[in-house]
This record gives sequence, C-alpha cells and structure tokens, in this order.
Amino acid sequence: MNTIQEIEKILEMIDETGIAPSDEPMRQYYYIKKCRTAVRKLEKECGRKLECCTKTFGCQMNARDSEKLLGILELIGFVSTEKEEADFVIYNTCTVRENANLKVYGRLGYLSNIKKKNPHMMIALCGCMMQEKPVVEKIKKSYRFVDLIFGTHNLYRFAELLYRRLESERMVVDIWEDTDQIVEALPVERKYRFKSGVNIMFGCNNFCSYCIVPYVRGRERSRKPEEIISEIEKLVADGVVEIMLLGQNVNSYGKNLEEPVTFAELLQRVEQIQGLKRIRFMTSHPKDLSDELIEVMRHSKKICKQLHLPVQTGSSRLLKDMNRHYTKEQYLRLVDKIREAVPDISLTTDLIVGYPGETDEDFEETMDVVRKVRYDSAFTFIYSKRSGTPAAEREDQVDKEVVKERFDRLLNEVQTIATQQTKRFEGQILETLVEEENSQLEGYVTGRLSSGILVHFPGTKELIGQILPVKLQEAKGFYYMGERA
Ligand code: SAH
Ligand code: SF4
Ligand code: F3S
Repeated sequence: MNTIQEIEKILEMIDETGIAPSDEPMRQYYYIKKCRTAVRKLEKECGRKLECCTKTFGCQMNARDSEKLLGILELIGFVSTEKEEADFVIYNTCTVRENANLKVYGRLGYLSNIKKKNPHMMIALCGCMMQEKPVVEKIKKSYRFVDLIFGTHNLYRFAELLYRRLESERMVVDIWEDTDQIVEALPVERKYRFKSGVNIMFGCNNFCSYCIVPYVRGRERSRKPEEIISEIEKLVADGVVEIMLLGQNVNSYGKNLEEPVTFAELLQRVEQIQGLKRIRFMTSHPKDLSDELIEVMRHSKKICKQLHLPVQTGSSRLLKDMNRHYTKEQYLRLVDKIREAVPDISLTTDLIVGYPGETDEDFEETMDVVRKVRYDSAFTFIYSKRSGTPAAEREDQVDKEVVKERFDRLLNEVQTIATQQTKRFEGQILETLVEEENSQLEGYVTGRLSSGILVHFPGTKELIGQILPVKLQEAKGFYYMGERA
C-alpha cells in the first residue's frame, strides 16, 4: 500500500499520452491518470464535481474491497456520497445466500429510475455475485442500463475498466475465472480513521459442501508477511489503532507461501508493531486452529479477547457431510482449550439451520452445542441452496415450515444465552475504543470492548479513536450503558 502523497508523486511522472505500461500497479496508475482527465472534462460539462457512491453487500472482505474501489474513485476525482443519486454508483455484491442476490436485483430496479433522470449517471456491479455466469447473463439481458461489470479477481483493474467505459458508450463486462495474482500498492480510502481491515489472504480451498465462496473467490492465496506488516505500519502511522486481519480461513495462512509462515507467527510479528493497540482476525476455521495460535493468544497484549469460531451445526454426521473436518466433540474440546488459555474470551459463531437431510436429532445437537458453549453472539442462517455446490444437488432438502420452526427456536436460545453472557462484565471497568457518536442518544458516544460488545456512554466526538476505561453500568441485552471511569 502506498500513501496518497506517494501515489500523487507517481501520477505526476506518468505520461498519459504514451502507451499503457504492462506491469502492475503502474498500469493502473496510468489509467487512473487517464480517468482523471476524462472526469475533469465531464465536470466542466456539468459545471460541478462528480459524486460517487459505493454500496457493499456481504462480508468484511467485500467491505475492504469497497474501500479499495473508493480509494481509486477519489483519486480519479469523484467526491464520495452515501446517496445513490450519485453520478457513479457501484454495488459490490455478495452471493453467499439467495437473499443477498435478491437484494441486488431489487435495488437495481430503483437505480434504473434514478438513471433516467441523470444522463451522466453510470452504474457498475462487481463482487462475488458477478462470478456466476447465469447472473451476468441475466444482467446483460434484462438490466441493459448497467454500464460496467467485473468480478472479484480483476478488481485491481477497476481504473482500466472504468476508462474503457468512459471511452465507449457500451456496457463493459470483464470477468475472470480465477487468478494467482495479488496486486499491492493501490490506493485505499478507509471508512474509519482509527481502525481498518487488512487482507492477509484471498480465496478459499475448503469447499464446504453448502458454500459458494471457493467458486467465486478462487483458490487460497496468502500475502507475504512483509507486505502485510508494511501495510499495517503505514496504517498505524496514519492513525489506525485497531486492525482486523481478514481471510476466509486465517488459520491456514501462509501454507502456500514460498517461505511458509504460520498464522501464529504472523500474529507475533504484527504484535511487535509500535503504536498498534488492538488486533482482531476473522475467520477461524476450527479444523486448522493450532495449539501454537492458542499459546500466542494467551500471551498477547494486543489480540482482542474475542474469537469467531463458526461451528455451522452440532451434528457430527452433518459436519462430515459438510466437509468441515471436525466432529462436535472435537469442536467442544477446542472451545475448552481456548477458554482454559484465555478465560474471559468472548466466543461467537455461525450456525446453519436446515442443511439437507437435517433431522430433529441433528438439530438438537446444534442446540446442545449452543447451550454448552454459551456464545456471546451468533449469526444464525437458514440454509440457502447455491447452484453448483454439492449440497444443492441433494434431494433431501428440508421442509420450509420445519426449518422455520427450528430457526426460531435456535434464535431464541442464542439470544437468551447472549443476554446472560453480556451480563457477566456488568459493573467492571474495561478499555473501550470509541468508534462513533451515538445516533440515537444526544451527547453519547459508542465504543467497542475488546470482546467486541458495544457500550454507549456520555461523551463527544473528540473522543473518537481513543481507547478509554469505561465503567459498564448496565447490561442491556447485547450492549451496555456505561460511564467514563
Ligand atoms: N469462511 C468462513 C465463512 C464465510 S461465509 C468460515 O468458514 O467460517 C459466512 C457464513 O455464511 C458461513 O459461516 C455459513 O454459516 C454461512 N453460509 C455459507 N453458505 C451458506 C448457505 N449456502 N446457506 C446458509 N448459510 C451459508
Ligand atoms: Fe465457505 Fe467453508 Fe471456505 Fe468458509 S471455509 S468460505 S464456509 S468453503
Ligand atoms: Fe459474500 Fe463473497 Fe463475502 S459471497 S460473504 S461477499 S466472500
């Protein structure tokens, strides 16, 4: 990653009338400069600055990608806005469950109406959903007003693709099947000044039977530790105190590097970075969570006391079918080991209800895990059939009514336990990173504890980005009301 000042210097040296360089990231800088000129021309025509809006669906990885898109757009000269009435609107899509896709189609209808009123408007789609052929076919056929479509593997080429669209009147579509490239050093515009996600790897090799991610994000690729460390150092120099290391399965980080490094080793190196206060990571796959990692967590001063450890189901029979490579018993043993090493850790998880062939007994196993582990919170999902995944082919899909009834029971149990769990810190004074002004309560700010739980307390926006001791006066379900200690 380069700072904006460094990038500006590079841009100054580029001759945009020459031919495009073939090496990355120089090629993209060249196109950023060309886009800049084109956008300035449009600004003159409109008599105002052009606005852009990035909208993210899906996970933290997508959120980080959107920050990269915004970094490029701002460098080109767009002014960022939350409003979808902008001149350039990009949806960074997710396809992990059917309703993620439905949301995008729904909003596209709305965007087409806005576009009718603004002839300069451009609409772009990218992200995981675009890696699915039928989706792109459907958009090409029924959503002709879309200007630009690209996927997850060529996101770094955004400036080049945007330039292609600016130069022609036609829809630009560019989707790659896969890539082994990791392009570093492109600009990023962070959503928060004081915290940031940092990709440590891309893709996934696990092929859980229900999951589409490996098909749309490609094979696992780890970034080099030096690149990661250097990015974090730059972030810290720019005011970041908390980072979240991102990957679909961070516990298998570094295995495919020329000089293999374990995730635990990477964490130890990140811990050494002066000025960095908090480290989070996600997601941890239980099958690859090592004793070495638990030891590092036990001794770390910076790793937050929170672990997201998706179990998916409590049924060992289904876990085998899901290709998760652990049993219920192994998972519970792992939880015990972690709790022994880090006693007050907050555990969170993902749960799927209604996986094909799920019986009442299987479901009761899930309820049992929830009661035994006592999660601080859990994301509960209804199984969603994803074409192309092995589980979608199965004939024993569970009846919708049955799934709904199980889902409601599970959610109820999860919430009851989460409320009780939250209460355990009541009355304590804990370090809190102030994240934002409270939108509901005037004169209040909202901060996050090491455990990930939110606390609202009296304060002003000057406190944002600071880590302060806060007394947790009252637990209210999933959050606290507090007071500066
Ligand atoms: N890599 C992470 C999860 C990424 S997807 C991991 O392995 O834990 C986030 C969550 O979405 C998954 O943990 C799973 O609970 C859920 N999910 C994935 N595919 C799904 C599907 N087809 N239906 C319902 N939920 C799904
Ligand atoms: Fe999907 Fe499994 Fe990979 Fe997670 S580990 S992204 S659930 S295939
Ligand atoms: Fe969705 Fe893609 Fe993330 S499918 S969950 S945005 S990796």
